[in-house]
Amino acid sequence: MTAKTAIVTGAARGIGLATARLLQSQGWRVAIVDIDAAELQTLDIPDCATFACDVSDPDQVARMVQDVMQWSGRIDALVNNAGVADFRPLAETDLATWRRIMSVNLDGVFLVSQALIPHLRQTRGAIVNIASISGLRASTLRVAYGTSKAAVIHLTRQQAVELGEWGIRANCVAPGPVDTKLALAVHTPAIRAAYHDALPLNRYGCETEIAEAIAFLCSDRASYVTGQVLAADGGFEAAGVGLPALRD
Ligand SMILES: NC(=O)c1ccc[n+]([C@@H]2O[C@H](COP(=O)([O-])OP(=O)(O)OC[C@H]3O[C@@H](n4cnc5c(N)ncnc54)[C@H](O)[C@@H]3O)[C@@H](O)[C@H]2O)c1
Repeated sequence: MTAKTAIVTGAARGIGLATARLLQSQGWRVAIVDIDAAELQTLDIPDCATFACDVSDPDQVARMVQDVMQWSGRIDALVNNAGVADFRPLAETDLATWRRIMSVNLDGVFLVSQALIPHLRQTRGAIVNIASISGLRASTLRVAYGTSKAAVIHLTRQQAVELGEWGIRANCVAPGPVDTKLALAVHTPAIRAAYHDALPLNRYGCETEIAEAIAFLCSDRASYVTGQVLAADGGFEAAGVGLPALRD
């Protein structure tokens, strides 16, 4: 097999699925990885194969990497996109919730990346980790989610620094709000209104807009970019106070 292969985790739906579709349209073969085996079975995309795996489980990750290698023979890019969200006040965040969020959002990125190092060395490949604006700026209700995403941003820099000598690049995309199943579950009407007040582009993003940033960082067009965080966020990170006052 000679076509470049990407693994995208959490790709049965949402941002991950949009990324898999975009990469496929750009000539990649894509391993679509997700914990949701039933949802995976509904997918039929040319040059793509599906692999059921819980990214927080080291044994499942090892098996998944073996299976993908058997299918593709090479791995050129890894998109660590699988993630879960839970919004609640710090005082009401029990340890089980904290651990669930950390195990998927942070341990998952660590485990899948580590398992792929030998294969990414072969191809001088790329890692793209999906963080969040909640990892760039603190907010209410996101003690576990936001902290896990801030850790993903730092983990990306660790990866870039350590893996650079083998030609492996590691970057991060920090999406702003996107109407996916994850966001619909935690974005109350009050949170949606607050986002609109804080976003210079004054709208939620689309999955495809996040996918474009991810695909760029996977590609050779970003061959000298590593250790960076690209916020695809409608300007959220740039803004301070006063936005609503400027609007009609
Ligand atoms: N939607 C947003 O507003 C938003 C904003 C910032 C960051 N993000 C991040 O983008 C990424 C994708 O989120 P989305 O909005 O597309 O959500 P989504 O819920 O639509 O998709 C997430 C996918 O991850 C899978 N998944 C969950 N746990 C898993 C596990 N342990 N192993 C393997 N797969 C698992 C789910 O089954 C699902 O298919 C997440 O990391 C999320 O934190 C989303």
